[in-house]
Amino acid sequence: MTSATSLFSPVEADLHILADNLKQLVGNDHPILSLAAEHLFGAGGKRIRPAIVLLVSRATMLHDDITPRHRRLAEITEMIHTASLVHDDVVDESEKRRGVPTVHSLFGNRVAILAGDFLFAQASWYLANLDNLDVVKLLSQVIMDLATGEIQQGVNRFDTGMSIDTYLAKTYYKTATLFANSSKAAGLLSEVSKETAENLYEYGRHLGLAFQIVDDILDFTSSTDTLGKPAGSDLKSGNLTAPVLYALEEKPTLEAPIEREFASSGDLEQALELVNNSKGIQRSQELAAYHAKLAVEHIEHLPSSQNRQALIDMADYVLSRLN
Ligand code: IPE
Ligand code: IPE
Ligand code: MG
Ligand code: MG
Repeated sequence: MTSATSLFSPVEADLHILADNLKQLVGNDHPILSLAAEHLFGAGGKRIRPAIVLLVSRATMLHDDITPRHRRLAEITEMIHTASLVHDDVVDESEKRRGVPTVHSLFGNRVAILAGDFLFAQASWYLANLDNLDVVKLLSQVIMDLATGEIQQGVNRFDTGMSIDTYLAKTYYKTATLFANSSKAAGLLSEVSKETAENLYEYGRHLGLAFQIVDDILDFTSSTDTLGKPAGSDLKSGNLTAPVLYALEEKPTLEAPIEREFASSGDLEQALELVNNSKGIQRSQELAAYHAKLAVEHIEHLPSSQNRQALIDMADYVLSRLN
């Protein structure tokens, strides 16, 4: 398995600077909000999104060092991501995140909503200060998309008629938009060509889709301890992801327990068993691998460098989380 640490090594020093900066950026004007935000930044996370922004920055600045703006973009990307997690954990009523109790479980929903808003607002302020209108537009679009994704997911709960295309559209809004637009924005800060900017967008989009599909598989195959957040909760809460949608095509009896929202005793266990005895997991793995491969195809045209290689290896890393 490709380890994240060796994969991120070209930008390891950058990521250390980022970790320090993130805590400072939150400031301490509002003690309870900064305490809540710092709680999550302190717990870490994989930092895959800022690592990608930094790798794209370095891969597109071959002869020069990256600029403070590239670094700030990586920080903004992680702030937006973290803000979305604080809100998501309220929506999902999740008790754990990054191996620690969630903001709402420690401080209550009111503080969690405000802390998430506060992080989004701060991210927007730092974004505006990059003084690059195109980049502002890309990342503001992400903030809108993330809300759209959460709403689409809420609307489609327990809908066994949902298609894989609808699932992928929702997954774009929920997850891939941030990967896609932050990769493209890093390219814009390096003043790449229009064509390269589009390739960076497509790289991020496909990688983001693969990442979320893998995350959706792990919800079925992994343990709560490994995930640092509750396992098996997607199906229970009616969030029908790729493994279930494929299983539904194969096992019509899966429909009834889901449609009645697991109201009868044994419904959830029966549904989980049907998914596990279907080709749902395997077909979802193939779908993730397909998007990971497309991601790589969009990055191969960049000039050869260890940073480009790390971006290529990132596709294997995303898939290797399943091993
Ligand atoms: C969690 O993202 C939300 C999803 C898109 C699945 P990560 O798995 O990247 O979370 P952290 O940042 O490492 O905690
Ligand atoms: C995470 O989504 C939030 C966003 C991607 C915006 P999920 O609810 O699917 O992810 P986890 O399982 O809580 O990390
Ligand atoms: Mg969640
Ligand atoms: Mg959610």
